[in-house]
Amino acid sequence: MESFDKKKLDAKLSAAFPMTHRWHNRFHLEMPFGLINDPNGLCRYEGEYHVFFQWNPLGCVHKNKCWAHVRTRDFVQYTLPELSLWPDDVHDKDGCYSGCAEEEDGRLRVLYTCNRKEGGRRIPAQRFGTLQADGSIRKDEIILPDHPAGTTGHFRDPFLFSRRGRRYLLLGAQRARDEKGTALVYEETGQGWQELGEIHTRLGDFGYMWECPNLLRFGSYDVLLFCPQGLESRKFDRQNRYQAGYIAGHLSLDSLDMVSHTKFQELDHGFDFYAPQVFESEGRHILIGWMGMPDCDDAYPTREEGWMYSLTMPRELRLRQGHLYSRPVREMKDLRIRDSLRELDLVQTDHLSQPLAEGAEVLLTMELGDASSVTVTLAYGLEKLCFCYDRQRQVMTIDRNGMHRGGRGIRRFKLFADQTLSLQLFVDRSAVEAFFQHGEEAASLLVFPDKHILPELQISADAPLASLSGNIWEL
Ligand code: FRU
Repeated sequence: MESFDKKKLDAKLSAAFPMTHRWHNRFHLEMPFGLINDPNGLCRYEGEYHVFFQWNPLGCVHKNKCWAHVRTRDFVQYTLPELSLWPDDVHDKDGCYSGCAEEEDGRLRVLYTCNRKEGGRRIPAQRFGTLQADGSIRKDEIILPDHPAGTTGHFRDPFLFSRRGRRYLLLGAQRARDEKGTALVYEETGQGWQELGEIHTRLGDFGYMWECPNLLRFGSYDVLLFCPQGLESRKFDRQNRYQAGYIAGHLSLDSLDMVSHTKFQELDHGFDFYAPQVFESEGRHILIGWMGMPDCDDAYPTREEGWMYSLTMPRELRLRQGHLYSRPVREMKDLRIRDSLRELDLVQTDHLSQPLAEGAEVLLTMELGDASSVTVTLAYGLEKLCFCYDRQRQVMTIDRNGMHRGGRGIRRFKLFADQTLSLQLFVDRSAVEAFFQHGEEAASLLVFPDKHILPELQISADAPLASLSGNIWEL
């Protein structure tokens, strides 16, 4: 087991801010050194939002999983990150894996998976912890010391939720019988946490493991969000190594049937989005995802700089007709630099180019007119990231082949735009988040331009657009 010295690591962290490397983002959470992944323990506590996340402070590999911690009141200004939970006992010696947080009796309590391997066997334990005044998490009671009989050692990522005045727990798992992914529910009773069983869906064979499940409630609808591993890619979805998506329906906590649920829909169509966590606060469902992908580390050139990956901006989710819409939380408007607004208002045009600042928000409304295809490009000198819309086929293609470094390739998804295509882009130094048709679809991805060059926004269409209007802000 490595040893972790909170004081030393916190000091090393604060000395590393502000982060200056040209690929380090300005309004996306990331670390100056080490590898980060899943957001953990999202909650609001004592007037602040708390964001924890997986962090290996010792290198750019998936090992030594700790929890790092930042706080914010407005999602714009954050405290400096600190180390808050690290592997230092027999139960979590192979990593403090993902989990959630909740306020309980005035304290911030977390629940996480202790990862432990003994002679090739995984012994995952689910354990509570309590945030202390010094920023560390005190490790408390273990509520489930091992995986249950019907699952393999892949049993992790606890998510707490309350229904009918009781607390429940959702866990990602792999069934022992057929080594397929599933989600298990537990109920808190006077005698501890009692296993209720697997959630029954109509998905059938749906991958070999479900990671990071969340259960959300929108009015009378339940949304089960999870990250299945092992699905085949298809023409218009499931194109990443692993997926992050959801089904919406009605979950009975008596039968555990997810009744009349939708098909599995992905939350994001970009190259770099996984393991999102959602928390509810003051009527909002707020999601933060990891901008990265497990088992794809070689594609990320920041490894040579000693740091890897980012988190998405916080997004607010809304459920409409079984579909989740996501938009950056309203607080992101405060990133806009005053007086930086440039307004676009063009008619009958088939091209446009506009220089962007190092951080930019672009809001575009394109009345397509006679155009059957339109391409929005972020050009970094000769390097390009393109969003191409094919109106006939109703397909959006994100093309990263024009970038030299980082993962190349394309991602494709169905998007219905009819007359009007709307696109909102948040462009950071290496992170780009795109929202289509007012949040109907989203895409998160990273780009690593070779040269330290500001991007240019270019729009082109195969026939004049009836109109092109929009706003560009510096962030
Ligand atoms: C998802 C995941 C989780 C696990 C964590 C470990 O990316 O594999 O299932 O708890 O990362 O870092």
